[in-house]
Amino acid sequence: MQTETLTVEDTSAETRKRRVLSGIQPSGDLHLGNYLGAIKRWVERQYEKENYFCIVDLHAITLPHDPEALRQRTRGVAALYIASGLDPDHCPIFIQSHVTAHAEACWLAGCVTPLGWLERMTQYKDKAGRSDSSERISTGLLAYPVLMACDILLYSADEVPVGEDQKQHVELSRDIAQRFNHMFGETFVLPEPMIPEIGARVMGFDDPSRKMSKSYEHIRGHLVKMVDEPKEIERTIKRAVTDSGNEIVFSEDPAKAGVNNLLGIYQVITGKTPERVEADFANARGYGDLKSAVAEVVIEELRPIRERYNEIMDDVSELDRILADGADRAGAVANAKLREMKERMGFVLPGGGS
Ligand code: TYM
Repeated sequence: MQTETLTVEDTSAETRKRRVLSGIQPSGDLHLGNYLGAIKRWVERQYEKENYFCIVDLHAITLPHDPEALRQRTRGVAALYIASGLDPDHCPIFIQSHVTAHAEACWLAGCVTPLGWLERMTQYKDKAGRSDSSERISTGLLAYPVLMACDILLYSADEVPVGEDQKQHVELSRDIAQRFNHMFGETFVLPEPMIPEIGARVMGFDDPSRKMSKSYEHIRGHLVKMVDEPKEIERTIKRAVTDSGNEIVFSEDPAKAGVNNLLGIYQVITGKTPERVEADFANARGYGDLKSAVAEVVIEELRPIRERYNEIMDDVSELDRILADGADRAGAVANAKLREMKERMGFVLPGGGS
């Protein structure tokens, strides 16, 4: 664990609660994977930790985007955080671009991050690989993990609760922190990815070999959105791809990935042990019963969230007030760390300083 020497802020783990930072891109409608892999656990553990949750709008422009949709979705994601149970009095909830230290730190950290580290990132290779021309891949897409590292490092976060797909990015954040500390002296805490044991990789209902993702929301039957109506949820889950067998058990067999996915979703929501989950389906008459049971728990889990979300979106001015307050509280932490980074790197600070 690193301790600070330059600023008065005390980041030693012994004297404070574990610090958590996480975020979601407003690049599409949030789905069951985002909820089970990330938000649900943020909510459950919030009072044990000191938390910062952001809506990472700067990340959402790394692929071509529609400005009006970005504006809508940014508030929509914030509303879903609150509707899911995050308490904004306890956890600052803020829009990444409101705390300008993130973008500025990204430049500083980018100058100490080797290009090869970024070119090796799986998500970059996937997303860049989908484009037929390098002319259409933005520099921002490559630099994306540096910005994510700064989101985390500016808050001295010990823990970063994310789904499995973001593990590599959090590990890169550690590498960047370590390199910076080595070059300029101890500045950053090394963050750890916190991946849930279940729910870390919710698969698409249309194709259980592929992770549920906002990028495939245009494919019918792929995902359940957090704000879908019960009828829509039922329709999607009832059509979920399974296999031609009838055994309702957890399994690593790729052929049983559809059933495994449904059981995993049921398990995270009900909080039951794997044995209890399998016992619940011991007398099922086939996959139809499994799908009905999963649809029911998903509908009941999301119902209050959707209702609260609608109320919050009816009062955007109150939401904007919460976000402004979150940005003030987050900014105080991030700006102090940015100043420290600059001091370490040898910048002359405005108004003097070292
Ligand atoms: P994003 O917006 O793609 O996803 C948000 C969160 O949802 C998790 N997730 C899933 N979990 C389980 N199953 C799935 N199918 C699934 N799909 C998504 C993700 O792992 C993530 O936890 N780069 C990040 C956003 C980010 C960030 C940060 C996260 C930017 N800065 C700092 C943490 C800390 C991203 O694109 O997540």
